[in-house]
Amino acid sequence: MAEPKFRAPKGTRDILPPESARRRSLSDAFAVLAGQWGFGEVVSPMFEDMGVFKRVGESTDLVTKEMFDLFDKGDPPQHLALRPELTASICRAYVEHRPVPPWKVWYDGPQFRYEQPQAGRYRQFTQVGVEVLGTDDPQADVDVIALGSRFFEAVGLTKVSLLLNSLGDPACRPDYLKALSDYLDSRRSELSAQSQVTLERNPLRVLDSKRREDQTIIDEAPLMVDFLSEESAAHFQQVRSGLEALGIEYEISPRLVRGLDYYTRTTFEFAADALEASQNAVGGGGRYDGLVEALGGPDTPGIGFALGVDRILLACNAEQSFEAAPSPVDVFVVDVAGGSSALTICESLRGVGLGADRAYGGRSMKAQMKLADRSGATYAVIIGDDEIASGEATLRDLRGDTGQRRVPLAVLAGEIRRLLQDNGV
Ligand code: HAM
Repeated sequence: MAEPKFRAPKGTRDILPPESARRRSLSDAFAVLAGQWGFGEVVSPMFEDMGVFKRVGESTDLVTKEMFDLFDKGDPPQHLALRPELTASICRAYVEHRPVPPWKVWYDGPQFRYEQPQAGRYRQFTQVGVEVLGTDDPQADVDVIALGSRFFEAVGLTKVSLLLNSLGDPACRPDYLKALSDYLDSRRSELSAQSQVTLERNPLRVLDSKRREDQTIIDEAPLMVDFLSEESAAHFQQVRSGLEALGIEYEISPRLVRGLDYYTRTTFEFAADALEASQNAVGGGGRYDGLVEALGGPDTPGIGFALGVDRILLACNAEQSFEAAPSPVDVFVVDVAGGSSALTICESLRGVGLGADRAYGGRSMKAQMKLADRSGATYAVIIGDDEIASGEATLRDLRGDTGQRRVPLAVLAGEIRRLLQDNGV
């Protein structure tokens, strides 16, 4: 076959059946859990004014290198960007609509980052997430983290670790940043060339370097936890106690800084141990108590997380969990008498709530039976000249061992529904 002229752009993928059905079930599982926790869904635009995302941090890779931005055709043109994440959009929506706090919302949708694609890293990827705006109660942090943990359990992942840290608040962060900068400065010449550049822009981000030559220096760097103000330390302690009360295991990760600049106090990441270390973050989040204000709103604390659906599914593959959803087709109608019976029988089966499919184009019995088998249907309904003459259909059990029998067409739909219910399908 000739090479296709067009392919999906670099870093993007088509997600085809049955994988697409599996992904939808994963999203549905998240929606159910978020509902149980009292969150309502927000659907926001896939692009925003570039200024919204700049608030995520002018010095982050996300803003300086990874934005898919464009100018619209207005006069003057507006500088827009495809969303690289949803926290900033949710805060923008909060400022715009002024809902009653605490505002608890969840989301599910594609994000766009111009990154170097590799396994588990795409230019278009899907996140599900939650945000709580308008409270800094540490129990909100616990509730949010618990939702993430329970979601991983719900999809059958057993090897996901929760890494936890506190990044302090505006009162204590400057002292820490000064200590960190002084320390990194004193070892500047030993740092990798890239980390030396990062140090100029944002010393905190040096702690995120995975380069080997930086590791000893990072290991010996001062830690934020040792600089926490009394208030931040107490907040962090309450988050920890809450997690412990719920039996949620966590690991304190004092060098966890995350890739975005808006974080304050609680920060966390979920790492899937079944994935390669460089791409094992299946989710992350934390507090961003200053972001709403930075977007022009009132002083409003916030906490949330986003989970990477693509990576979660890779982790599920690695742990052999969350298998593909079963086929929604209960019955496949095999019509070797012209096809018009398949049309009306499918209609009546679907009318009683069953899933029904059929072949097109007058194919042979053998070809249609093959399709029936591939469809995942539990039963085949077979129509030939004989069946038409007697006003019946042959009902064949494709999965069990009850063989086949004739059923009058008039009662066919009800009979199949009863059989499926009896078998708990
Ligand atoms: P983030 O850590 O940038 O945080 O992304 C969250 C998750 O999205 C990551 O842990 C990862 O699973 C997934 N992800 C990120 N980039 C990619 C990519 N290029 N390809 C595949 N998956 C990816 C945020 O986005 C914050 N908005 C989270 C948050 C919500 N913080 C507070 N509220």
